[in-house]
Amino acid sequence: MLNLTVHKEHDERRQGEAYAPAETDVQQFQQKFYIESYGCAMNFADSEIVASILHDQGFGATRDFSEADLVLINTCSIREKAEQTVRKRLNDLRQIKKNKPGALIGILGCMAERLKSKLLEEERLVDLVVGPDAYRSLPSLIQEAETGQKAVNVLLSREETYADISPVRLVTNGVNSFVSIMRGCNNMCTFCVVPFTRGRERSRDPHSILRECRELFEQGYKEITLLGQNVDSYFWTPADAASPDGWGQPVTFANLLEQTAKIDPSLRIRFSTSHPKDITDEVLHVIARNDNICKYIHLPVQSGSNRILQLMNRTYTREWYMAKVDRIRELIPGCGISSDIIAGFCTETEEDHQLTLELMEYCQYDFSYMYFYSERPGTLAARRFQDDVPEEIKKRRLSEIVQLQNKLSKISNHKDIGRTVTVLIEGDSKKSNSDWMGRSSENKVLVFPKNNRAVPGDYATVTVTGSTGGTLLGEIIG
Ligand code: SAH
Ligand code: SF4
Ligand code: F3S
Repeated sequence: MLNLTVHKEHDERRQGEAYAPAETDVQQFQQKFYIESYGCAMNFADSEIVASILHDQGFGATRDFSEADLVLINTCSIREKAEQTVRKRLNDLRQIKKNKPGALIGILGCMAERLKSKLLEEERLVDLVVGPDAYRSLPSLIQEAETGQKAVNVLLSREETYADISPVRLVTNGVNSFVSIMRGCNNMCTFCVVPFTRGRERSRDPHSILRECRELFEQGYKEITLLGQNVDSYFWTPADAASPDGWGQPVTFANLLEQTAKIDPSLRIRFSTSHPKDITDEVLHVIARNDNICKYIHLPVQSGSNRILQLMNRTYTREWYMAKVDRIRELIPGCGISSDIIAGFCTETEEDHQLTLELMEYCQYDFSYMYFYSERPGTLAARRFQDDVPEEIKKRRLSEIVQLQNKLSKISNHKDIGRTVTVLIEGDSKKSNSDWMGRSSENKVLVFPKNNRAVPGDYATVTVTGSTGGTLLGEIIG
């Protein structure tokens, strides 16, 4: 597996795994559904919207696909490997129809949107194909499929934000939660399939965002991550400029971020993802002046070469990006910064690759998500450029990037030794139930021995004593 990352914990949040809520939920429902999600946090958040729509139709969630009347896979198309994973999974699911001939199988999400009804020809097992903007039509599509027809809705929308739907929290530790603030992307990075699978960018009504955040806080959640492909371009104009609730004027991401931070000082706010061209000083000031907005920015660079950045249509230069990193460190001292990096994009030379390594050194990333380029059909890059870097070279460059990031992460972790940080306890550590796992504001994962008073959702004051792999080790001092 070469989509390596130095921080397993971070990666798992993004890459996705099968999940479903506790079995007990199911008893009150006539029918059962099973849902598995792949891809980014937005897809996971969408599965919770789907669960809410299905609950209203009398479907309860089950963890056991063999007893489900409806089996759904929420898919990702970002790289070829993501699609292969889903195809393999579909193969595993063949037995469902043998055990339960009436069961329906549906493909949701980005692969549904990319392949549309072609998916039905390629995967005979599939009964439903539903794109990310069409989940409200699931009830009627299910009815159609129950009559033996194949049902497809892959219409993209300019307005849909599912603002009024209260997501059903599927797998949760009761501490962290995601809230979608926008959908789609207008950026057209040439390598990226997202603008095609998710459609035009649109921002969700801020009232419904704040309501959802407040409800989560009242239910005991302590950390909310505001989600969008490009959160810094969040922009909402009120229909009624004289509305009595204080949003009399357009709402920017900086305004929204500050409003969510004001819900309660004990509620931590994170956000993802920032596009380097759009993150403003105003946002940085809002982060700096609110203690409960985490001091951590994921700022994907993709490449360190200006020529490649231009071919990628990222619309910034390496100099501009480095100046942005300097500005973050100036306004938010100690801010955690991470990145996404693609190795072996079309025409990338050894010199371009060296420029990426140099930029990584300059930025001293705390961690990165690193990939080799995977051509996606229909994207601008697939149409305009040749995918001409041989696979062995892509992989070698990627492994050099991963090695350098491992070194940078070690340096970053070493600097933390001796520091005292506030950690939000998320639960037991993976390795031992006598240790807690939690995160610092800067998004560092910490593992430390339990004391008998704290519970998940509490803040602990922890002194960092060492590190192993990507994790910091510590001792509770308060
Ligand atoms: N909207 C976010 C992230 C989108 S996808 C952003 O703009 O940063 C997450 C990451 O997947 C991207 O940042 C990029 O590094 C990677 N990615 C996207 N398309 C890819 C492709 N075709 N091949 C390899 N990696 C890709
Ligand atoms: Fe893809 Fe670029 Fe949009 Fe991110 S900003 S989702 S990389 S097109
Ligand atoms: Fe994948 Fe779609 Fe997210 S392509 S990364 S699930 S927006």
